[in-house]
Amino acid sequence: MSDPRTTEQWWRTAVVYQIYIRSFSDSDGDGLGDLPGITARLPHIADLGADAVWITPFYRSPMHDGGYDVADHRAVDPRFGTLDDADDLIGRAHELGLRVIIDIVPNHTSDQHAWFEEALTAPPGSDSRSRYVFRDGQGDGTEPPTDWQSVFGGPAWRRVPDGQWYLHLFGPHQPDLDWSHPEVRADFEDILRFWLDRGVDGFRFDVAHGMAKDLVGPLRDLGPAQVHHRIVGDGWQGGHPFWDRDDVHALLRGFRRVTDAYTPPRATVAESWAALDRRALYTRPDELHQAFNFDFLNTPWRADALRATIDRSLALAAGTGAAPTWVLSNHDVVRHASRLALSDGVDPDDWLLTDGRTPHIDPVRAARRARAAALLLLALPGAAYLYQGEELGLPEVADLPADVLQDPVHDRSAGRRKGRDGCRVPLPWSATGPSLGFGPGPAWLPQPPSYRSLSVEAQHLDPDSMLALYRRALALRHTCMSTGTGADAPLRWQSDSAPGLLDFRAGDLRCVVNLSDGPARLPTDRPPLLTSALSGAPGGRLLPDEAAWLGAGGGEAEA
Ligand code: GLC
Repeated sequence: MSDPRTTEQWWRTAVVYQIYIRSFSDSDGDGLGDLPGITARLPHIADLGADAVWITPFYRSPMHDGGYDVADHRAVDPRFGTLDDADDLIGRAHELGLRVIIDIVPNHTSDQHAWFEEALTAPPGSDSRSRYVFRDGQGDGTEPPTDWQSVFGGPAWRRVPDGQWYLHLFGPHQPDLDWSHPEVRADFEDILRFWLDRGVDGFRFDVAHGMAKDLVGPLRDLGPAQVHHRIVGDGWQGGHPFWDRDDVHALLRGFRRVTDAYTPPRATVAESWAALDRRALYTRPDELHQAFNFDFLNTPWRADALRATIDRSLALAAGTGAAPTWVLSNHDVVRHASRLALSDGVDPDDWLLTDGRTPHIDPVRAARRARAAALLLLALPGAAYLYQGEELGLPEVADLPADVLQDPVHDRSAGRRKGRDGCRVPLPWSATGPSLGFGPGPAWLPQPPSYRSLSVEAQHLDPDSMLALYRRALALRHTCMSTGTGADAPLRWQSDSAPGLLDFRAGDLRCVVNLSDGPARLPTDRPPLLTSALSGAPGGRLLPDEAAWLGAGGGEAEA
């Protein structure tokens, strides 16, 4: 049986490691991570056993949103390196057997993009303005054209000196593009080719659910139906003025035509904060291959809730023929090593504002859950996305002082939301040094003292470490895939498993997670292949918040 990792559809079973470039590895001491820093550290990701890296934007940018405000998609920001550095990275990754997915930001540009600068000097109604969304204000023109709110907080419109307003669904430095303009579409398809010709293996499309907007005729106010947060509920069914509209799918098909014209075809994944059933539409056979499963990420740590999300995700993926995906953390959400240990019902955003004082996170529960969640994530059939540092068990840094915060969310919400910096603190590679091996000097965000003992150096040789658990899990997952019945296999729940347990088989693996309040007994006919428990699974028992992998032949697990 061929190894699915080497086939054209490698993404169906891939483990993709997300690199948030600013915080991964700094080669030149400016405090920001960069491309040569990534290249130097690629062996860490290859040794971990990942199949691919996804690198967040490294293009020329004024960095008002950490690079998600792109001024030129064909240039590397000097703080991140050069085009030659990008080529070196791609070449080195391929030598190590890693594929490279890069981030494309099609919903908006930076306000320093040549198109936007041209639009500002052009008159209202000009073609230059029509690549963006410029409108007159309401009333005497001093009121924004609609009541739309931006994701980062505050109105989604900013006024320019001649009195018109432009739309920015994110920060004011990120004007939204109008995708009905033919040049916008042509240019982005050309950007894809630019990077495909340099050898990248795929793309992650940022805010894919926002590109299509209803801009014909007068714009509609949203009133109380405003979606303040990013997940668009089921209610709209494609009719929201700018989120998850039905007409976005034609744009995705255009991207797919470009990537399919290459041999082998390249991978595509959507960031789409649409409701799960609507998100499945993004992965129809002629659209993108995958979409991040944010429902899994948002599901509470309860057996019934997780099982329901897993079943629904699998059914929807089967409906379109796409491979399911699973993700627990990324650069926009509270790290799961902390999030999963919050008391039931505590909103992670509210918790962040408590500056870590109350409610307190129990470190033992947090570590147990993070270890068990890793085994759950990596046993599920499909593709798994890891966020840098989760293999070290990094917690959210919840107590960053306000004066170091850089996420525009903090300012735009007038401090009501702390923002995403706490999951973006630079990685600790060693236990010493000015930024714990991240770079030769201090890092752009301070690292907490706990990062010393969580560093790669500190965990590397420790068989009980989180890093060791991830390495073993990825190696086992790979073995099970090579036998042809692994991560692309159907999932079968173990019949009659006790309440509070997740107990399923996928290919050659059986995964048992104990989410009940008491110990669970594992089948005794064969020893576990791997457990999340620090002391193994003594007496064949799993304590609460522990997980085990067994060979698929074992009998029933009992609570
Ligand atoms: C996506 C990115 C996020 C960014 C936003 C605007 O959600 O993941 O980091 O702020 O898009 O580009």
